[in-house]
Amino acid sequence: MLNVIETQNVSKRFGDFQAVQDLNIQIPEGTICGFLGPNGSGKTTTIRMLLGLAKPTEGHVKIFNMPLENHKQDILNQVGALVDSPSFYDHLTGYENLKIMQYVHHNSDKTIEEVLGIVELTHAANKKVKDYSLGMKQRLGIAIALMNDPKLIILDEPTNGLDPSGIKKMRELLMKLVKDRGISIIVSSHNLFEIEQMCRYVCVINKGQLLYQGDMHTLLEKYKHDYIYFVTDDNTKAQSLLADVDISIEDQRLTVKAHRDEIPQINKMLVKHDINVYEIYHEKSSLEDIFLKLTKNVDERDYADE
Ligand SMILES: Nc1ncnc2c1ncn2[C@@H]1O[C@H](COP(=O)(O)OP(=O)(O)OP(=O)(O)O)[C@@H](O)[C@H]1O
Ligand SMILES: [Mg+2]
Repeated sequence: MLNVIETQNVSKRFGDFQAVQDLNIQIPEGTICGFLGPNGSGKTTTIRMLLGLAKPTEGHVKIFNMPLENHKQDILNQVGALVDSPSFYDHLTGYENLKIMQYVHHNSDKTIEEVLGIVELTHAANKKVKDYSLGMKQRLGIAIALMNDPKLIILDEPTNGLDPSGIKKMRELLMKLVKDRGISIIVSSHNLFEIEQMCRYVCVINKGQLLYQGDMHTLLEKYKHDYIYFVTDDNTKAQSLLADVDISIEDQRLTVKAHRDEIPQINKMLVKHDINVYEIYHEKSSLEDIFLKLTKNVDERDYADE
């Protein structure tokens, strides 16, 4: 599979501050790639470098296998983007905003109708943008990004501020673009649940450094653990009995890191030692747990260095 984006040791320094460091990412084409990281981890800075809006202090960006520094115009003609809040002519209608883009990209009226249909704004085409909801504005932003028939779309937090139904709509829209038009998409988000649901590929960064890149599935498999919670009448005794397993007491319940198959055995052991078990429940770790664990480990490493 080809990569739409490859970066080689991309770094960005602002004065003494290293915002992004030695980022080497390879993003396969034809997928939605999630770009995940806590606040201030360097997502927007990286995205700006991918779009040629900021120059890396060091390193190189290749898009469609061409160096961005030498083929900027060529590349950007095939890329749609939504970074920060999209800027529109608020006093004009959605249709008129797209009409302006039509002049820029020299495409037909049919393209306007088509992109309005894709982002489900046909019904609001003649409404002024200042009267659009946030979700509608975000979708108009995507419509604008689609006007140049891009091969790649890069979106910085497109679901930020949207309600659950707006988030779902955006997710369905992005998945449709990949499926029907073969567009590759990179999307940053804080909404880990979103990323987990729509992305096949994921890059996790923290403090400007890459912690993981690869298939979402592999990440979930690699770091996944099942947590089993036991509510008993003597957690301390239970903990001492189960010295061999990874166990802790949290919120007055025993938290055991184990697999589902081990539940009956643990339960039998507790009952055998006269511990009353009132509840047992089982929870799989989500991407959120994994993400917190990955980023927490880095923080702990930092503290250890101090
Ligand atoms: N122009 C700038 N000058 C100085 N520092 C900057 C500049 N732009 C970004 N930074 C710093 O670089 C770091 C990364 O910022 P960036 O906006 O890339 O993070 P982010 O991952 O997008 O965060 P968020 O999730 O809050 O959007 C932050 O500490 C930020 O303060
Ligand atoms: Mg940001």
